[in-house]
Amino acid sequence: HELSLKLEMLEKGGFDHFMLKEIYEQPRSIKDCMRGRIYANEGKVQLGGIKDYTEKLKNADRIIIIACGTSWHAGLVGEYLIEEYARVPVEVEYASEFRYRNPIISEKDIVVAISQSGETADTMAAIELAKEKGATIFGICNVVGSSIPRITHAGVYTHAGPEIGVASTKAFTAQVSVLTLMALYIAQQRGTINQAEMVNMLTELDEIPSLVEKCLKTDEKIRVISEKLKDSTNCLFLGRGSGFPVALEGALKLKEISYIHAEGYPAAEMKHGPIALIDEDMPVIFIATKNSSYEKVISNIQEVKARKGKVIAIVTEGDKEVKKMADYIIEIPDTNEAYLPLLATIPLQLLAYNIAVMRGCNVDQPRNLAKSVTVE
Ligand code: AGP
Repeated sequence: HELSLKLEMLEKGGFDHFMLKEIYEQPRSIKDCMRGRIYANEGKVQLGGIKDYTEKLKNADRIIIIACGTSWHAGLVGEYLIEEYARVPVEVEYASEFRYRNPIISEKDIVVAISQSGETADTMAAIELAKEKGATIFGICNVVGSSIPRITHAGVYTHAGPEIGVASTKAFTAQVSVLTLMALYIAQQRGTINQAEMVNMLTELDEIPSLVEKCLKTDEKIRVISEKLKDSTNCLFLGRGSGFPVALEGALKLKEISYIHAEGYPAAEMKHGPIALIDEDMPVIFIATKNSSYEKVISNIQEVKARKGKVIAIVTEGDKEVKKMADYIIEIPDTNEAYLPLLATIPLQLLAYNIAVMRGCNVDQPRNLAKSVTVE
């Protein structure tokens, strides 16, 4: 028994849980994901797995992303990036909904299926359906040799390494990394980005692993905040732009492993309903970094404070304005707005983790959940 305990400790690399180990692996897993794919000096992205489909990508009328759960959140980030840089319309669909609603698909559509495990039943069925209708299907998967890479036409592996914790962490940031590369790759092929811009974007992208490292340093502060939030029954996560999928992912992590009811919302939607929930017992976690929606998020924070809500804000290092209003701030490094999800996600993973541990939950194997959902 003692031996098996020691073995388990070894597998966790000295961390208390696989989830924590996987959170801390992210500077490396993101680097692995980008290795051999970006050439910053030349301003070039290379994606060997899909290079034979360059013509298809150039002529695609639209891209449909299908996935479930956390992978679907990554897809939403992908939508912002692909539309912004490659100027191709993107739709993001839950695989389970897509497969049952007789979707309109043509041969000029590209379907991108995202799945950590590569075995999710709904995602597989959605792929088969799109294939029958003649679309070109790409996979973004983590498990090499799993089913989805075998049934798709082409794809890009995330190379995050095995993910054992049921709550997805490093697979998510790797999926977002691949989608970032894909957006820039398509932009490069379609000529919607110029060379100088590309060099800048890739130089900044190269910095991301070391900035993720800095985000991990928020852990101590997050433990203090977790102590205050651990007995909450509800939690709201709000963000705008690509901060919105980050909010969704933060809420999913918290509910999955701590069993606290949490919802993610686009911050501007708050006034259309959720604002009715705000009182002194409702913690609201804001993605309030300095970007194009900063001022708007600030007014949303004021709306929450006016109703005595507790505000926890993820802000850009050195922020002064939000600091004056929020109960707690978590600072992350400044970066290109396009890469914000890769950084802002880290403290939310740590928040969910610490709260779950404080509540005595089984972090790596939360109740009722399986690592891969092979039934519909
Ligand atoms: C993530 O934390 C969840 N456990 C879950 O939502 C997961 O992302 C979903 O089941 C999809 O899995 P996949 O990426 O392996 O297809």
